[in-house]
Amino acid sequence: MMEIRTVGDEVLRRQAKPVKAVTAAVRRLLDEMALTMRAEEGIGLAAPQVGVTKRILVADIGEGLIELINPVILHAEGYQLGLEACLSIPDVVGEVERSENIRLTGMNRDGHQIWMEASGLLARCLQHEIDHLDGILFTDRAIRILSEEEMAARNEVVLD
Ligand code: CO
Repeated sequence: MMEIRTVGDEVLRRQAKPVKAVTAAVRRLLDEMALTMRAEEGIGLAAPQVGVTKRILVADIGEGLIELINPVILHAEGYQLGLEACLSIPDVVGEVERSENIRLTGMNRDGHQIWMEASGLLARCLQHEIDHLDGILFTDRAIRILSEEEMAARNEVVLD
């Protein structure tokens, strides 16, 4: 399991670099990231969150593990407003506007280019993780941060 970097760590603000070749080391990193995400009960994790400035993410909203290397959003449409949190920003939840549907491409762990579509929570999660690759945190985009009272009243929180 890897250590999660938290807000204030400048690694979270760097522009992550594209992966040139999907090597065994990249596959090991994907494995470690998935283990860490699950241990921390997150639904997504981007490599900068474990101190690696490479364009790699993992996600699992309960529909199976997604691994993406060099992800690029090709098309985004629609609108959703919902709550987000982040393993790198403990105890903060905010309301964030996102696209409802996205189409994206990237590489899988075999180094093959793949295309996928996502909507709803998965689209939200992937937009949040891809933001991490550009040094953007959800608190930069949040239109509102929940108050302590609102946090206490909630027992279900989206974690990525
Ligand atoms: Co996050």
